[in-house]
Amino acid sequence: MIVRVPGDKSLTQRALIFAALAEGRSRLSGLLYGGDAASTADALRALGASIDPLRADGGDVEVVGKGLSGWSNPAGPLDLGNSGTGTRLLMGALAGSGQTARLDGDASLRSRPMGRITDPLRTMGADFTHHGQVGRLPLTVHGARPLKHLDWTSPVASAQIKSAILLAGVTGGAPVHITEPRRSRDHTERMLEHVGVGVTEHAGEGGWRVELRDPPERLRPLDFAVPGDISSAAFVLAFAALGGTPGDVTVEAVGLNPTRSAFLEVLSDMGAVVEVRTEATGPGEAVGAVTTSRASLRGVHVPEPDIPRLIDELPLIAVLGARAGGTTIVTGAEELRHKESDRIALVVENLRELGVQAEELPDGLVVEGSDAPLAGSVRTAHDHRIAMAFGVLGALPGNDIRIDHPEAADVSFPGFWDLLDRLRTGRAAP
Ligand code: S3P
Repeated sequence: MIVRVPGDKSLTQRALIFAALAEGRSRLSGLLYGGDAASTADALRALGASIDPLRADGGDVEVVGKGLSGWSNPAGPLDLGNSGTGTRLLMGALAGSGQTARLDGDASLRSRPMGRITDPLRTMGADFTHHGQVGRLPLTVHGARPLKHLDWTSPVASAQIKSAILLAGVTGGAPVHITEPRRSRDHTERMLEHVGVGVTEHAGEGGWRVELRDPPERLRPLDFAVPGDISSAAFVLAFAALGGTPGDVTVEAVGLNPTRSAFLEVLSDMGAVVEVRTEATGPGEAVGAVTTSRASLRGVHVPEPDIPRLIDELPLIAVLGARAGGTTIVTGAEELRHKESDRIALVVENLRELGVQAEELPDGLVVEGSDAPLAGSVRTAHDHRIAMAFGVLGALPGNDIRIDHPEAADVSFPGFWDLLDRLRTGRAAP
């Protein structure tokens, strides 16, 4: 079976933000039509950008940007819903915009750490007012222009921190230098290059160093096709490897950025045959097709150096571990506790509820595989990736699993449950 998955969540949000900061008309296609994209698009509209309605069919969406200093103060608070990426990247862009905006989100987003973003941006000259707990939403960004030069060492490998600082450098006209302990996803750097802004990167003392030396006067509009999200494709491929589909499955037109694709290596290390065909390189991003099929899986150890390249796939890897021979271990992934939920605690809680032997580590987890039938109720805490990872397990023959909030999947993968059903029965797209 050949399927496609919705547009990449990380790239969709970056494309929208870049287009809203560019001067003139951008044309974007393949955008995610999901909750996080809608939240970011609405926030950008409130700041003055004109954005066509997002489209479920992935067709062209036109964005008319206001330029690096053309955003206006929004009339009310910006509600970023569940979107950590939208919030943190907008905080960066707003910091150098000279505007003032209050940002808020849902209960999950309100519980996530924002000090990691406000600290560097404050050092650059922006200011923040917290309306609840310090370092959490809701907060108001008081932008300033120009911002000051920044050389920042981040304690965590996080593309959201790196991107917020780069965007502040762009809007605030400030050179920035960021060091992260490991290289995180590099979509922002590639998109900057795509619109003609040079970014240098290299391995250096203390980790991976990224530098924006010459902040641009203006951003060129984009003509950008967003590929399918490899983090969404992962659920489809895992389901096929677990034998959930009658034959092999190919996910086509999916992003294959090497800073995102380590899940494919893990799936292969677990024993699946994973065939990758890179078909085209979109503007700066590798795109292609990935095929896999049923395999007899074995447990793996996913160590710290690999974590940034598969951070969002870890709940799914734990679920694969529950059906693999032997033990699956994840270490060096403390960051997983700060996602849409505490994904270490929640994955282990749910696996145990279903009868799987699993254990929390401070920075990871241990899962014992088995082929016993699994039954029980999964608590998602409205976390889309928890809902989908356990959804994959629940759709396997012999398992009887209830997911408390299946609609959580809409944040990044609208149509997930229908696609899972089609994969299970081998029915082609309607
Ligand atoms: C993202 C970066 C990652 C990832 C998130 C999307 C991005 O978060 O978990 O889903 O688009 O930059 P961190 O930067 O916090 O690691």
